[in-house]
Order: sequence, then structure tokens, then C-alpha cells
Amino acid sequence: METTMADLAVLYDRIRPDERMLFEALDDLGVPYDKVYTPQLRLTFDAAGQAQVPWKVAIERCVSQSRGHGVTRALEAFGVRVINPSDVIELCGDKLATNARLHHEGVPTPRTGVAFDGETALALIEDIGYPVVLKPTVGSWGRMVSKLNDRDAAEAVIEHKEVLGGPQHGIFYIQELIRKPDRDIRAFVIGGQCIGAIYRTSEHWITNTARGAKASNCPVTPDIAELAVRAAAAVHGQIVAIDLMEDPERGLMVIEVNHTMEFKNSVSTTGVNIPRLMGEYAISLL
Ligand SMILES: Nc1ncnc2c1ncn2[C@@H]1O[C@H](COP(=O)(O)OP(=O)(O)O)[C@@H](O)[C@H]1O
Ligand SMILES: [Mg+2]
Repeated sequence: METTMADLAVLYDRIRPDERMLFEALDDLGVPYDKVYTPQLRLTFDAAGQAQVPWKVAIERCVSQSRGHGVTRALEAFGVRVINPSDVIELCGDKLATNARLHHEGVPTPRTGVAFDGETALALIEDIGYPVVLKPTVGSWGRMVSKLNDRDAAEAVIEHKEVLGGPQHGIFYIQELIRKPDRDIRAFVIGGQCIGAIYRTSEHWITNTARGAKASNCPVTPDIAELAVRAAAAVHGQIVAIDLMEDPERGLMVIEVNHTMEFKNSVSTTGVNIPRLMGEYAISLL
């Protein structure tokens, strides 16, 4: 770990292209900062029980959600402002909690339900009506996001989850399928402003770029900007990416908020220097 007496830190556990771009943007901005390899970070306490933490502000970029959350909690305990704060990580790291908050704040979301045992889940699925989407409450990159077209499929997936077990498989997070076009929208919000958006287009109904969807520029309409900013505000997200879907009848809906947003495919696509705006926002908090 390279530490200086910088006020700003970037916490990471793997340098992806996104982190490299963020480092370059901070270098360009000329602000001193520490690149903190979180797996090797040690916080030690002095006789007064205080950790010697040099930073005022940190940008948390860990790939591991649990590590990112843990280090954020620890640094917050010593007065560091972390982007995003730990309560945002807790909320956005859990699709169910996020959905509940968005719903509570009047942000449109797909019809969603949760059950905690297979039989009840099946009844809930039949109530919502096929096709439904079943997905893990904690997860990303489109992993284990499943479309269930009929009762046979529902029974099969429920049985697999029950038999294979594991704490995550005891939660059945169920959503109506939104009949979106062959794309969804990812909108980036930094410090309360929607600074850009991309379409993610795919022949597959799962439109994560990690699953091969193509990114292209999405003009930020007033509707997109307004909804993205409202969703970010609902979860108190400071630097977040909002996944939006276009329902043919009901318009835009929010499906999730990503708290450690990936942006590598979105800078040349949108023409917006997203990492620079992230850096400027962090500097504004110093
Ligand atoms: N209810 C839904 N209706 C239609 N498509 C969905 C629905 N939920 C998820 N998807 C598709 O699956 C993708 C991944 O779902 P998402 O909830 O964002 O999970 P992840 O965290 O894995 O990205 C979305 O970008 C979208 O293309
Ligand atoms: Mg997503």
C-alpha cells in the first residue's frame, strides 16, 4: 500500500479497467491520493483507542461486497467519509431492501414479492403470473437471474434451490417480467445529478454487459434524469448507477441501484468523463 499524507483514498481489491481509469482521472486532476489495497490494510489503535487513519474521504471500489462494506464501516468509525457510505452499501447490496425503499419513496418498480419457502414461493409466483423473474437478492452481472415461463420451470428451480441449500437459496425474490424492448438503461448519478446513461442492448432478455449486451449512448431525457436522481436520493446514493427498464405501457421503472458502479464501457460511449466527475465529487467533499 502506498500511503502519503493524502486526504483522499481509493479503496480497492482488484484493479479492473474501471479502477485504472479512476486513478488516471485523479492523476489528471492533480490531487494527492492513496491507492489502498484493502486486503493489506491494517487499522491499529493507539492507547486512546483511536486508529491512525490519515484520510478524510475515501472512494470505495472493492469487487468483494463484504470487504467493501467492512472497510467502509471501519473507516466511518474513525470519521472518514466513504463514498458510498456503509448504509448505502447495505441497502443497494440487497435487491429486496432496495426495492422496498424505492417503493416506499414512490419510485416506480416492477411488481415484486418475496417468500421464504418453496411452497409459498410457488403460490406467490402463480399469484404474480407467468412469466416471472426469480433472482438472488444479493448478486450482480446477471448471475442466477432466471425467467420462469410456466409452473414446470418454477417447480424445477424452486426444488433445486431448496435441495442445494445455502442461506441465499432460502430467499425467493420474485418479480413480474417487464416486457421491455431488447434493451434496458443504465443511468449514472453523481452527487445528485444524472451525468449520463447507456442503453444495454442484447438478443437475450438479460441485458448486463457482463453477459454480452452492447452499450450505446442513451440520451438523458428529462424523464430518465428525474427518475434516476429520485432513485439515487431514495437510497442516499452519492455515486451510483441506476438500472432502468422501459415498460411499454407504464413507462420507466427502476430495478436496482448499483453502489460500486462499473463505467468502463460507458465513457467512450457517452463521451462523459465519468471517472473525472467521480474524482471531482470526492474532492468537493474534502
Ligand atoms: N423484472 C424483470 N423484467 C425484465 N427483465 C429483467 C427483470 N429483472 C431483471 N431483468 C433483466 O436482467 C438483468 C439483470 O437484473 P438485475 O436485477 O439488474 O440484476 P444484476 O444485479 O445481476 O444486474 C437486467 O439488466 C434486465 O435486463
Ligand atoms: Mg443490474
